[in-house]
Amino acid sequence: MSSAEPRGLQAFPEALSTREAWLEPFGWYREMRENAPVRYDPGRNSWDVFRYADVKRILDDDSTFSVDPSKATDFVEPEGQGAGLILDTMLFEDPPRHDELRGVVEDSFRPRAIRELEPRIRELTREILDDTLEGEGEMDLVSEFAYPLPVVVIAELLGVPVEDRDRFKEWSDAIVSSASDGEGGEEFAERQQEVQREMGFYFLQLIEERRENPQDDLISTIATAEIDGEPLPREEVLGTCMLLLVAGNITTTNLITNAVRCFGENDLFGTYTDAGAVPRSAIEETLRYRAPVQAMTRIATEEVTMNGETIGAGERVIVWMGSANRDGRQFPDGDSFVPDRSPNQHLGFGHGTHYCLGAPLARLEAEVALSELFDRLTDVELVGTDLEPTRSSFIYGVESLPLEYATV
Ligand code: HEM
Repeated sequence: MSSAEPRGLQAFPEALSTREAWLEPFGWYREMRENAPVRYDPGRNSWDVFRYADVKRILDDDSTFSVDPSKATDFVEPEGQGAGLILDTMLFEDPPRHDELRGVVEDSFRPRAIRELEPRIRELTREILDDTLEGEGEMDLVSEFAYPLPVVVIAELLGVPVEDRDRFKEWSDAIVSSASDGEGGEEFAERQQEVQREMGFYFLQLIEERRENPQDDLISTIATAEIDGEPLPREEVLGTCMLLLVAGNITTTNLITNAVRCFGENDLFGTYTDAGAVPRSAIEETLRYRAPVQAMTRIATEEVTMNGETIGAGERVIVWMGSANRDGRQFPDGDSFVPDRSPNQHLGFGHGTHYCLGAPLARLEAEVALSELFDRLTDVELVGTDLEPTRSSFIYGVESLPLEYATV
């Protein structure tokens, strides 16, 4: 694989290894849903699952399909101090530990708690737009708007000092993205470990500070949490802080960006600039049609048969939510963007035990961001010709999205 091709936390299927294929993987998904809905790929030593019903069944059955990578027969312990921090989190733990860890922060992410953040999110959104927009011109939606917003929001929720936000952007980006051009696999792994160590060290200082002197923020909640009267082990305190930072940034950036891309492709800019508010259903449809997370990994804990194929215990299974979301068995006219689609039971935030903790926050950020943006803009046009996909094998979006616009 050349350095320009996407790479990430899990091996990438050959069919999606070019830039063009990863920008529009949906034709390949369709072919797989029809011809090989559950298939073994010897090159990656993993299974791929493409249909909605099968994907949902796997996400719903966490005793047969574990999130714990150490249950894979080919699991190799990550080397080096700090290398496995992100593994010490709810995302990679099965119940009962999963439920205990999620319980520490769950209340802070419930829809009611999140709704209270709306005025502040609106204020932050307006500040970014004030700095970015001119009377008319061109902008890169990603770097100038969709990227800074989620980082600022989560940094504030966590309680990270304003002056450290730039460093945050770099860390969270490095962890989800792939190797930069020219780096080999080993260098990439080393860089990942280094970033995790730097971030870990930084968070440990903040955690100690908040333990002594708790504030009204998430780091304090996590640092002072107890499970059955015992404080959380240090690795889990650290892992949880880092997970919250990393899980919500590129994903929300790509939700905002993918939504604008979908609106442009479907001639909806005029509709939304006139209305001044983007309907929730159009955001849900983006989560279905161009889902920011296309795939997740599970490990079969026992032998299981699906669609006539037998998956062995300890084998890795990639569930393609991005394909499930286009499955015509679930979504009539699944390959069309229908902004008022209803019902829309997409799997953009996953399903079951690991359903995205940050879904209410991501929805609110997208709603505020898109409404504020379209409230100010008019004559919007997508002007990019050579879009570059986000360099990751499970996160889906584009590196930049150039727009021409005038302001109202
Ligand atoms: C889990 C998607 C935003 C925190 C997940 C999962 C998906 C997902 C698909 C399930 C993973 C699995 O089943 O293995 C997204 C998308 C987002 C987004 C598309 C934005 C559009 C956020 C935000 C946060 C967040 C803003 C927090 C600040 C989490 C956490 C989990 C998770 C903590 C693990 C939940 C668990 O294991 O119980 N997300 N996410 N996400 N997400 Fe999000």
